[in-house]
Amino acid sequence: MSGKRVLIIGGTGYVGQHLLEGLSNTAFEKGIDLAFTHHSNLPPEPLIKAIHSHCLAFPVDLRNGDGFDAISLSFGQPDVVVNLAALSVPRACEMDPVTAMCVNVPSALIEWLLTFDDDSTLLIHFSTDHVYEGVKSFYKEEDETAPVNVYGRSKAESEHFISANWANFAILRSSIIYGPQTAAPVRKSLPVQWLDSLLAKGRQVEFCRDEFRCPIYINDVVTIIQTLTCRWMSGCNEMQLVLNVGGPDRLSRLQMAETVAAVRGYKSSLLKPISASLIDRGVKSPADISMDISKLIQMLGFSPMKFEEGVRLTFRNETNTSS
Ligand SMILES: NC(=O)c1ccc[n+]([C@@H]2O[C@H](COP(=O)([O-])OP(=O)(O)OC[C@H]3O[C@@H](n4cnc5c(N)ncnc54)[C@H](OP(=O)(O)O)[C@@H]3O)[C@@H](O)[C@H]2O)c1
Repeated sequence: MSGKRVLIIGGTGYVGQHLLEGLSNTAFEKGIDLAFTHHSNLPPEPLIKAIHSHCLAFPVDLRNGDGFDAISLSFGQPDVVVNLAALSVPRACEMDPVTAMCVNVPSALIEWLLTFDDDSTLLIHFSTDHVYEGVKSFYKEEDETAPVNVYGRSKAESEHFISANWANFAILRSSIIYGPQTAAPVRKSLPVQWLDSLLAKGRQVEFCRDEFRCPIYINDVVTIIQTLTCRWMSGCNEMQLVLNVGGPDRLSRLQMAETVAAVRGYKSSLLKPISASLIDRGVKSPADISMDISKLIQMLGFSPMKFEEGVRLTFRNETNTSS
């Protein structure tokens, strides 16, 4: 497996930072060269410190492909590209649909990959559960996609674009990803920490009882990417995969808050159930986009952890990093 190259697009984001830490733990001994891209700022110092092996960093703008030529010159064609770059907040996509489409549909990335002589690079691309309409439970990969917001539409378009223009890909339709904060804290609010901060105020808070998701713990996401990467590097030479990536529990937002309250010792009387129809978040939110994850379990031989266990680990790891 030596002499292989992995490039992470969007290494400064929430998943990117955790992935860089995870991959860099073993990259050196496996002889893998790692590189990542950043966009709005230089790579933050705490992230550089947290990466355990040498790693190149490149500025890249996915809107126009600026920066890719430098990667060709000093890193070369990657064996695996993990695309995590996105406008990932649904409300931000709704407010700026042009940028959402431009960043989330990775046409500049594919254009760059097509400059190499062969199509031997595996593209692992992050999509979302928002590609589903949200009108039934436990969506399967072969169900029709019918997104209800700009974020979901941009990701559905990204899936079409990749499958039409690149030979080898794994498209991961991820549910909410939760877990500890990153080495260099990301600006967006993290789901479990956000619930905790609301409940910590000791006042009653409203939570939707009729919006369902299958949240997945960040370490499980990293394991899934690592497994696909290893499979590709161990001689697999063809992959066209679409996978639901979620945890084993179908949970309403209220049930997620109940779990956080139980783990953190808040009174359950603080939680007030309401209907999502009463909330205006500035973006349409699909009601039930819970997913069937049997293909993930069967194909990768791996079962993601339950939400309650992941919430416990989140707070255990947050305490460890802040002490
Ligand atoms: N986190 C979740 O709960 C979740 C759930 C489902 C799916 N996903 C998907 O999983 C992927 C990773 O999510 P995440 O939470 O890690 O996202 P994130 O924290 O918002 O990170 C986004 C990354 O994209 C980069 N980026 C933004 N605009 C760019 C541009 N024009 N050119 C190049 N890079 C650009 C950012 O770079 P800078 O920070 O340097 O600007 C950052 O590294 C995304 O595709 C997201 O849609 C995430």
